[in-house]
Amino acid sequence: MMIKGLRLQNFRNYQDEFVQFLPGTNILIGDNGQGKTNILEGIYYLLTGKSYRVQREQELLRWEQNEFHLYGDFLMSHHKVSLESHYRDKKKIVKINQVPCRRLSDFVGTINVVFFSPDDLIMIKGGPSERRRFLDLHIAQMRPGHVSLLNAYNKVIQQKSALLKTYVEKNLKYSQLQLWNAQILELGEKIIRNRSDLTKRLQNVSGHIYADLTSQKEKIQISYFALGKKTIDEALFEFPKLLNEKLEQEVERQMVLIGPHRDDVHILLNGKPARLYASQGQQRSLVLSLKLAELDLISQEKGEYPILLLDDVLSELDRFRRDYLINSIELSRIQTLITMTSGENILESGTFLRVEQGHIRRDP
Ligand SMILES: Nc1ncnc2c1ncn2[C@@H]1O[C@H](COP(=O)(O)OP(=O)(O)O)[C@@H](O)[C@H]1O
Ligand SMILES: [Mg+2]
Repeated sequence: MMIKGLRLQNFRNYQDEFVQFLPGTNILIGDNGQGKTNILEGIYYLLTGKSYRVQREQELLRWEQNEFHLYGDFLMSHHKVSLESHYRDKKKIVKINQVPCRRLSDFVGTINVVFFSPDDLIMIKGGPSERRRFLDLHIAQMRPGHVSLLNAYNKVIQQKSALLKTYVEKNLKYSQLQLWNAQILELGEKIIRNRSDLTKRLQNVSGHIYADLTSQKEKIQISYFALGKKTIDEALFEFPKLLNEKLEQEVERQMVLIGPHRDDVHILLNGKPARLYASQGQQRSLVLSLKLAELDLISQEKGEYPILLLDDVLSELDRFRRDYLINSIELSRIQTLITMTSGENILESGTFLRVEQGHIRRDP
């Protein structure tokens, strides 16, 4: 997959800018605060309907403006695909080849993307929600139905929480909560299966990559940790019982205590939790392995590599890991967009694009 051109209108610090990309490595170079990351964010948003950095579209609007527009030309199995994303009057409209899509899920995943920035270390060190988010963002690109599933599930959790807050005061009955539990069970099971399937595949691929990165000296194990149970089979089997058992405690604490909204991904490094014991360098290798595994999994499923966006990553990696990454990209001919500041002299070949105060031009 490849991006050929991008037009950003009133998106972040871009008023109306068009940029063309070439196959292979595209290097966005410029000082801090010029708009390099904003370009990657624009592409990520255009392809996934989400920003990697913020929750609300409001922040993506160029200051004082009330609509933004993104247009991208892509190549997928030698076919041209044009995608558009418009945000106007607090509403989103997306189009594939000029035709509006009824739902965002008909659109997401048309062209795939992997985004990698130093902030991704939070996947290792941060709380469970960061690891769930990593899985969910990947699944959403591959199975767009996952987004609707999560939205429906979150709504149910909100409604059950609201009920729990007024339970005593309104003298409600368990049966009212059990109605919501039936839905938590139905939707939750699907979420758990999607996430644990992906985790298994990530474990296979990233395990090899990590071993490779450490000359087979170190080993990682990744597993999805559902409902506090040792195995997925056990979790799914016990789910209905757990939902019932927790009711009393849920009423007491006024919160929903059981379900995949509290799950985690366990990452073990040489048998110990990486979150607690991994050094800075090991964390970087871990994230690098996971990102390279994502590239691999997408290409296995779609028959083509996704577009890779690397935001300030190269300067953070040591020589060995950097060469490993660059080698993998070049070997697989993955189109990659890399940001770096002017002073860095890390890459010698590629298409250089200079970014300055919201303008982009090809460097000779
Ligand atoms: N909504 C916005 N409207 C206009 N400018 C913005 C908006 N959000 C961020 N900016 C500007 O964008 C610049 C940061 O862009 P960014 O892509 O993060 O820089 P970098 O080149 O360092 O990656 C800053 O100058 C910031 O003031
Ligand atoms: Mg940046």
